[in-house]
Amino acid sequence: MKQEQKPGSTYRYNRISFYLNGRFQEIDIAPGISTMDLVTKQLHLYGTKCSCNEGDCGACTVVIAECREGSIVYEAITSCIYPAAKLHGKHLITVEGLGTPKELHPIQKALLDHHGTQCGYCTPGFVMSLFACLASVSHPDQESILAALEGNLCRCTGYQSILAAAAELSREHDPSTIVPPWCRKVEPKLFAFAQKPLEVKKPSASLFSIDNYLLPGDLQELKDMLALYPEASLIAGGTDIMVQVNVQRKHFDTLIDLGNLPELRQIKLSRAGIHIGAGVSYSQIMDSGIAKCDLPELVKLCRLIASKQIRNFGTLAGNIGNASPVGDSLPLLLVYETRLLLSSQSYSRECALRDFFIGYRLTALEPGEFIQEIIIPIPPRTAFIKSLKSSKRKAEDISAVVSAIRIEEGGKAALAFGGVAAQPLLSEYFASGYSPEVDWQALAEQVAQEFTPLSDVRGSADYRRQMIINHILQYREAYHG
Ligand SMILES: Cc1cc2nc3c(=O)[nH]c(=O)nc-3n(C[C@H](O)[C@H](O)[C@H](O)COP(=O)(O)OP(=O)(O)OC[C@H]3O[C@@H](n4cnc5c(N)ncnc54)[C@H](O)[C@@H]3O)c2cc1C
Ligand code: FES
Ligand code: FES
Repeated sequence: MKQEQKPGSTYRYNRISFYLNGRFQEIDIAPGISTMDLVTKQLHLYGTKCSCNEGDCGACTVVIAECREGSIVYEAITSCIYPAAKLHGKHLITVEGLGTPKELHPIQKALLDHHGTQCGYCTPGFVMSLFACLASVSHPDQESILAALEGNLCRCTGYQSILAAAAELSREHDPSTIVPPWCRKVEPKLFAFAQKPLEVKKPSASLFSIDNYLLPGDLQELKDMLALYPEASLIAGGTDIMVQVNVQRKHFDTLIDLGNLPELRQIKLSRAGIHIGAGVSYSQIMDSGIAKCDLPELVKLCRLIASKQIRNFGTLAGNIGNASPVGDSLPLLLVYETRLLLSSQSYSRECALRDFFIGYRLTALEPGEFIQEIIIPIPPRTAFIKSLKSSKRKAEDISAVVSAIRIEEGGKAALAFGGVAAQPLLSEYFASGYSPEVDWQALAEQVAQEFTPLSDVRGSADYRRQMIINHILQYREAYHG
């Protein structure tokens, strides 16, 4: 990388290479364009449908295949908020790839046989979510099927016929009959790409001179780019950023996408604890043996965040970087005594998560810095750790109040809340520790007065105060139960 080159002229890396339904593509893309817009407006494939344009309904679901840690994974994602630049080096599978009206894919046939479609607008999304599920697991159980479909909404069929189709598919098929041969043919290419990444090329000069969407090739290049564009916004999964682009029409001069960097997509163990790279998705955490063993409450909480399609590319680092007062992971990460490894071109430093949030959506991140790793010290096995989320529905809903507690055998304790102040906070009332004489009811009422919740569409200030009390009393039951 040559730093003397003029900013804005160097890194408009928009010519990406990927496979689309088995065929290699090398194309120029607009910076920040979503996969949905690329597929429908530029590639003129109209099977993928857009309904909400903010990741909520699943109509736009497509499947991404890529090589990760030596295996090929097939994951459903919501294409309306999945930046097309992330397709580089991956295989994009859309509904057009799977079947034709004359030769339906088994999933399409099962939906037809079970009357699992009426107006059909949501159907391509259901087909693709089922495809990812059935391509990944042999004979998934009902729980896995429900998890795979929780991000797909249907307004006219009702879900029973879709679930009946899914149950039949699970009984009668396995990945060998679900994944078509042309998909299998691309897999060696994806392995090869993981060994030796394809170069991201500059686009033809005439294209898209307004914004920059930068895809660093490695960690050093990310640091160099941030030194050159210290005010750039970072994008990990994009599930927050792309909603801001699509719905709030927010303009970004420069976005730097770190979500594809292999160095940042790992979960590692050290004496300091568990290191979760900034590009690690929620789904990766849920699948990680390390996380399941030492951070089971985090794994449980991830299951309550968004939907499968969002968890497949949304990250913990993005939840932290977004600094929303209701980011679901934040209270739990606070009671875990999480530290962040913040890096820039010239240095790295550690910052305790409790010092990272400094106001409403404000963080201690300096220009040119990024979150490289989230470091969670392994809690003692005997520690009581629990998190609760209050929202209107289980899947795909932002919390009104979210909280977490930790009590250790020696009395060390922490209690944290989100959704009750401008930023996620630890309660002062638990900071000095837990004693068996604690009056939980009195504690709950004190904590409810400690915070200053707002009223908004998710709940009034009074409702939120009541939720604080309810959460603490539920913790009492669980702790003594
Ligand atoms: C349909 C839908 C449902 C959702 N449901 C939930 C939910 O239930 N609970 C919940 O908490 N959230 C939810 N979200 C919000 C979102 O998915 C999460 O906040 C997610 O963790 C964001 O991660 P990301 O990688 O996609 O972030 P991005 O969109 O990539 O980034 C988010 C912010 O973090 C910054 N950032 C990203 N990476 C870094 C880094 N390495 N260093 C510094 N800054 C960085 C970005 O600049 C940006 O400001 C939902 C979103 C959608 C679209
Ligand atoms: S269009 Fe609704 S999730 Fe993408
Ligand atoms: S079939 Fe009409 S929305 Fe699902």
